[in-house]
Amino acid sequence: MEERILRMLRRTEGYLSGEAICRELGVSRQTVWNIVEKLRVQGYQIDSAPRRGYRLQSGPRQVVREAVLSYLPEDFPWRDRVTVLPEADSTNTQLKVLAAGGAPEGTVLIARRQTGGRGRMGRDFLSPEGMGVYLSVLLRPECPAGELMHLTCAVAVAMCDAVQDAAGFRPGIKWTNDLVAGGKKLAGILTELGLEAESGAVRYAVAGIGINCRQRAEDFPPELRQRAGSLEMIAHREVDQNRLAAAMISRLQEMAGALQAKKAVTMARYRRDCVTLGREVTFSWEGKVLEGRAEDVDENGALIVALPEGGTVKVASGEVSVRAKNGYL
Ligand code: BTN
Repeated sequence: MEERILRMLRRTEGYLSGEAICRELGVSRQTVWNIVEKLRVQGYQIDSAPRRGYRLQSGPRQVVREAVLSYLPEDFPWRDRVTVLPEADSTNTQLKVLAAGGAPEGTVLIARRQTGGRGRMGRDFLSPEGMGVYLSVLLRPECPAGELMHLTCAVAVAMCDAVQDAAGFRPGIKWTNDLVAGGKKLAGILTELGLEAESGAVRYAVAGIGINCRQRAEDFPPELRQRAGSLEMIAHREVDQNRLAAAMISRLQEMAGALQAKKAVTMARYRRDCVTLGREVTFSWEGKVLEGRAEDVDENGALIVALPEGGTVKVASGEVSVRAKNGYL
């Protein structure tokens, strides 16, 4: 009921009369009033004016399950699998526990803050309350691990789509899995696989995404300020985190359904978004620090780097970090 009232308010310019809501939902005025009060408690700003009705001013600033769901279609297949936690050490860690217990594909965990957010290569991912969306999704791809090499790339493209949907601009991708804009990292992706010990078959994949939304430069620790940014720093407006979370879930569901079938299309889109291509990069490879020019990304997400002395090397994702010669990008 809350969701239906929200949808009605969203599609109405100006005020929506209490009577219209009562008619459409077949409930009393008192019920409508009670629901509006409940929504206000969740953080919705709803004006009410005598004889005019209700008008939605803004949504909750924090992630609220009902608010996320209100942006997803009523028949969205993963609706009942979305959980919002006030706090988690790491949504990836928690989701791996659920995966081991048999949770289905499409189980989504979102935390309003993480106390031990994890990034690639053992790094931390800062996840302060209210500042971003920290979300993990459980996938159960039915294929060998070798056919999932492009998974992180597919998640990155899906997350560019989600940012475009919710924040109105399209970030780039710094190989392999950072979303960037204005020369700064806005988001990171950590994909983890659970394998059957004996056969090596894939039992599950957990894709975790953290998107910085609200930070201003001074909100980042001094050592990150040069490199870290947020959606609001680029969009110059408030970004609705509930809408963003819904866009992320929706784009992930779309991606999961076509992971193999659309591999070539996805990788072509990845190359278009990838800002690393064409740049001079420094990377460590087989114990040496090398420099070269990032030429291409192959169908498995490996970066193909042309070396100054001639020849190319293929750098597999997950193995190394690549830096531009002069700075982060
Ligand atoms: C990176 O920047 O190297 C990857 C960062 C991934 C962060 C997300 S936030 C949700 C999920 N839970 C985690 O602990 N990590 C991922």
